[in-house]
Amino acid sequence: MTDKRIVGIGLVGYGYWGPNLARNFSRRRDCRLVQICDRSTTRAELARQHYPNTSVTTEYEDLLNDPAVDAIIVATPVDAHFHLASQALDAGKDVLVEKPLTSTIAEAEALVALARRRGRILAVDHTFLFTGAVLRMRELVAAGELGDIIYMDSVRVNLGLFQHDVNVIWDLAPHDLSIFQYVCGTRPVAVRAMGHRTHSDLHESVAYVHLEYGGAAVAHCHVNWVSPVKLRLSMIAGTRKMIVFDDMEHSEKIKVYDKGISVRDIDRDTYNQVRVDYRTGDMWAPKLGMREALDLEAEEFIASVRDRHQPRVDGEFGLDIVRQLAACQRSIELGGERVEIA
Ligand SMILES: NC(=O)c1ccc[n+]([C@@H]2O[C@H](COP(=O)([O-])OP(=O)(O)OC[C@H]3O[C@@H](n4cnc5c(N)ncnc54)[C@H](O)[C@@H]3O)[C@@H](O)[C@H]2O)c1
Repeated sequence: MTDKRIVGIGLVGYGYWGPNLARNFSRRRDCRLVQICDRSTTRAELARQHYPNTSVTTEYEDLLNDPAVDAIIVATPVDAHFHLASQALDAGKDVLVEKPLTSTIAEAEALVALARRRGRILAVDHTFLFTGAVLRMRELVAAGELGDIIYMDSVRVNLGLFQHDVNVIWDLAPHDLSIFQYVCGTRPVAVRAMGHRTHSDLHESVAYVHLEYGGAAVAHCHVNWVSPVKLRLSMIAGTRKMIVFDDMEHSEKIKVYDKGISVRDIDRDTYNQVRVDYRTGDMWAPKLGMREALDLEAEEFIASVRDRHQPRVDGEFGLDIVRQLAACQRSIELGGERVEIA
C-alpha cells in the first residue's frame, strides 16, 4: 500500500451489482477506485463512461499486477468467486467477495484458509448486515427486548432475474440466512428445504426453507423468482415482543409489537382447560439510520484493510452461510429430508 491512509480498490464485475459498489467506493476519501475489470467489452465500455478517471480493463491480470490496487472486490456471478478471490489473495490483495462467498463448502473453507495463511483480509458482502434496520433488530434482540426467540419467518419474492449458475436459494436466501444469524447471534443446526423448478430447463425458482436452531427456535423462509409482486417481509417473534421488518416500506421499516400469548392451566388429558392469555400492547417504530448500507460497508472494509483488523462480516461468517446453503441444496436433492448443517 503506497499511502497507508488511501486504499487502492480494484473491482471485478461491472454487471448489475458492481455499479453500486463502484458508486459507493468511488465517492470515499479514504480509498481510490483504481481499476475496474469486466470481461464483457460492453460492460467495460459503460464503466469507462461512468468513471473516466479510473482505468478500465477486460483482463483480470491487470488488477492482480497493479501495485496501486491494495484490495479487490469480486462482484461476478457466484461460480467465478472462488477462482477470482483466490488469485487476488495469492497476489497479496485483500478481498471483499459478493454473497454468497462461494458455491461449495470446500471452496469457502479454502478461501478462509488461504486468507489466513497470506495474512490478508477476507470480507463478504452480506449487504443487509449494514442496514439500519438489521443493526437495530440485533440491538433489540441483544438487549433482551424480545425475550426468548420463538421463531423467525421471512418472505423474499418478486419477478426475479434468473441466474445462470445458481438456483433461487443461493441467490436470495443468503440475505435471510445472514439476517437470522446476525440478528439472533445463533446458527441453525439442521434444515429441510423444498425447491421447485417452475420451468424445467432452469434452476429451482421457488423454494421453502425450514431451519432448526436447537432449543425452541425455528425459522422459515420463502424465496421466489416467479412472483407477480415484490415482498420483502421478515418477522422475528420472541416470548415478550415481536418485530416485523418490511423492507418495502420507505420509513418505519421495522415495527416492534408488544403482543404475545402466555399459556396457563393446561389439562393435558382433555385440553379442555387450556387457557391462553393474550397480550396486545403498543406498537412502535424505532428510528433507524437511513445511511446506504454499501456506504457503511465500504467504510468498514477500508478500515479493516487500513488498520489490519478482521471485518465484522468476515470469511468465517461467509463460510457459515455457504454451509447452510449447501445443506439446503442437499435437502432439496433428498426431496426435503432433514439435513444437519456441517
Ligand atoms: N449484495 C447484494 O444485495 C447483491 C445483489 C445482487 C447481486 N449480488 C451478487 O453480486 C454478484 C454479481 O451479480 P450480478 O447480478 O451483478 O451479476 P451480473 O451477471 O449482472 O454481472 C456480473 C458481471 O461480471 C462479469 N464477469 C463475469 N466473470 C468475469 C471474469 N472472470 N472476469 C471479469 N468479469 C467477469 C460479467 O461480464 C458481468 O458483467 C453475485 O455474486 C450476486 O450474488 C449481490
